[in-house]
Amino acid sequence: MKTNGNVKAVILAAGKGTRMKSEKPKVLHEIFNKPLVSWVLSACEDAGSLENIVVVGHKGEMVSEFISKNHPKSVCVEQKEQLGTGHAVSMAKEALKDFDGLVLILNGDIPLITSDSIQKFLEFHKTNNSDVTIMSAVFDNPFGYGRIVRDEKNNVKEIVEQKDCNDLQGKIQEINTGTYCLNWQKVKRFFDELKNNNSQNEYYVTDIIAWANENSFKTAAYVLENADESFGINSRAQLAEAFRIMNLRHLNKLMDEGVTIVSPENTQISPETEIGEDTIVFPNTFINGKNIIGKNCKIGPFAHLRGNCTIEDFVKIGNFVELKKSYVKSHTNISHLSYVGDAKVGSNVNIGAGTITANYNSITKEKKETIINDGVSIGSNTVLVAPVELGEKAFIAAGSVITKDVGANALGLTRCPQKEIKNYVK
Ligand code: UD1
Ligand code: CA
Repeated sequence: MKTNGNVKAVILAAGKGTRMKSEKPKVLHEIFNKPLVSWVLSACEDAGSLENIVVVGHKGEMVSEFISKNHPKSVCVEQKEQLGTGHAVSMAKEALKDFDGLVLILNGDIPLITSDSIQKFLEFHKTNNSDVTIMSAVFDNPFGYGRIVRDEKNNVKEIVEQKDCNDLQGKIQEINTGTYCLNWQKVKRFFDELKNNNSQNEYYVTDIIAWANENSFKTAAYVLENADESFGINSRAQLAEAFRIMNLRHLNKLMDEGVTIVSPENTQISPETEIGEDTIVFPNTFINGKNIIGKNCKIGPFAHLRGNCTIEDFVKIGNFVELKKSYVKSHTNISHLSYVGDAKVGSNVNIGAGTITANYNSITKEKKETIINDGVSIGSNTVLVAPVELGEKAFIAAGSVITKDVGANALGLTRCPQKEIKNYVK
């Protein structure tokens, strides 16, 4: 995490998101198991924000509950009626009453924004001695966005919303991403003077540019290098598109770092997954959540990692293997058709095809741990009923249902003796 001095962020997340057609508030829709607003909050945290104030409204309890559990540096404030983005920001005034620093404002539905860009944006604001800086982007198709209107000297004059644009303004391709940086104590007065004299009768935060210019504050616009980052989610199709962009961005980074991705178009790896050099990821692999995968591993084809997995070097996770909340030490093979969850797996372990850790009791709803020590060999089609521990180099016979611990070097076997009934078929 970088320190950018005294920075706090206000995240706008009170809108309903009508076009999602959902019971769930828009900002809780997920990409790689992580809600949209959570991606924005993580980017702010990584950029050094001291505190994030999230403005919630529609189904606000659901959003607040998620945030209090997952983002300890964030607080929620309520906007009872959604009267516009400017009105939304003014809900954070109380929380920022004595704050004498920079306030970032971001929309809660732009999950692709990176901490890198936020940091560059803050730097730009400071080096320009600006009071109000807006983050803009250039789009081939700017329809729907607020447009950045500049004067003859190329200074930002105002932001005009799509619905308020004249023909000339409608042609402007530089748009407002909805991200702002304010010298809070200097310009917070704007939020007491909000007006709603526009086509939507809403209190627009975007009016702050024209207001700041009129009141002789310094304004500037920072053009986002990669316009994709400002992509906002309003529909399910845009959610899928954001997922695609986020995935591809991470796959490219992993490939740059020395990971082979055999077929990027058929591989999904969460940006919160680190992978070491010379690991090969085969097609149709889906990796969700936070994971660390070592060097020289082979993952997939058709592997599913569900998060909280740590895999050391030279491990093989083969086809139709599902892994969840597990630690796997080096040189271990889980080659086919297995489920390993809530497990600690040692090094040089071989887990045979069709091995299942029965980690969940659906009556008590409890999850229990399986410990598999170094050098264990597990025969095919074994069920390990947790909690259970297999000692070093233990050997489990194929087809066993293991409910009790097995000691080091021992054979564990629960199998009916084979019968042969002579001439049965005749
Ligand atoms: C806004 C900007 C527009 C910009 C675009 C970028 C305004 C007036 N317009 O338009 O210039 O190009 O974002 O995506 O700001 N929200 C609240 N409370 C409200 C209204 C909105 O919390 O009363 C939240 C929404 O949940 C959303 C964000 O603010 O996260 C933006 O609101 P939205 O209605 O989507 O604004 P746009 O029309 O997209
Ligand atoms: Ca929007």
